[in-house]
Amino acid sequence: MMTEISQFRDQAQRLRQLAQEANKPATIVDPRVITISSGKGGVGKTNLTVNLGIALAQKGIRVGILDADLGLANLDIVLGVIPEYNLSHVLRGEKSIQDVVAMGPAGVKIFAGGSGLYDLANVPQAQLVRFIDGLRDLDGMIDVCLIDTGAGIGRQVMSFVSASQEAVIVTTPEPTAVTDAYGMIKVLHESNPQTRIKIVVNMVNDASEGWAVFERLKTVSQQFLNTGISYLGSVEEDPTVSKSVREQRPIVIGYPNSHASRGIFRLAEELLRVGATDPLPREGIKGIFQRMARRLQRSF
Ligand SMILES: Nc1ncnc2c1ncn2[C@@H]1O[C@H](COP(=O)(O)OP(=O)(O)O)[C@@H](O)[C@H]1O
Ligand SMILES: [Mg+2]
Repeated sequence: MMTEISQFRDQAQRLRQLAQEANKPATIVDPRVITISSGKGGVGKTNLTVNLGIALAQKGIRVGILDADLGLANLDIVLGVIPEYNLSHVLRGEKSIQDVVAMGPAGVKIFAGGSGLYDLANVPQAQLVRFIDGLRDLDGMIDVCLIDTGAGIGRQVMSFVSASQEAVIVTTPEPTAVTDAYGMIKVLHESNPQTRIKIVVNMVNDASEGWAVFERLKTVSQQFLNTGISYLGSVEEDPTVSKSVREQRPIVIGYPNSHASRGIFRLAEELLRVGATDPLPREGIKGIFQRMARRLQRSF
């Protein structure tokens, strides 16, 4: 009799405990936000962003990809996914975050910026606050956000890159691409010396060519800017890339054993390794927009 009562009491207590656990909000860790840009266009950013995102998602990470390239918004071309609305609609209060997120391969969440985003500095403060606050929903959905910023050192690209804590700069071994990559490192270092810069060399003949390009960039950055950059890795030049673009099927899914895919999987591993060994405070997408808004407002 006694044991039955105490058992009942134990169960009731356990039920209460479970109910409490269910009600307690999970500890939310903001996602890691990484911009992907380049000095020169056409070096393979979009292809890299999409496939790196998928490679990370295949490892069980919740990935978001923000297409912020206004000049050539082309995530949709690589993916065959066309988001109807973008963050500009959210900023204007016309759509919610849920309305602008499209589902891509491997569960990657795709969303676009839209040109209105660069009006951040001009929108009424209350609207800006509402927008930034709403980004919390996005932050809750993902662990890593990759932002395809587009190329060049123009104000729009740089507003994203210099607001990010981690910036991947993509170049090819071609001399003009390397020169423009250095130009971007310089501008980035001047506008935000805190940003950690990581280099990817795309379309290499072999790994040693990638290393040689990185060493050159590292030497000049150290010498003239006194800033350190790190190497994320290289991806080989591979005709399978354009084949998969034509087929609208990301290469890491369609051709996972191709040379280019292997390079991209290595980059994903390295990103995770760096994230684990040298973690940075996570500010999320909310954080990057907060910083962007502050910077844009200051520049007027
Ligand atoms: N590793 C690679 N090997 C061969 N072709 C590539 C590679 N990476 C990208 N490309 C090709 O280069 C072109 C530009 O790629 P894209 O991702 O659109 O560059 P970006 O976004 O920097 O302008 C595309 O035609 C793509 O197929
Ligand atoms: Mg692109």
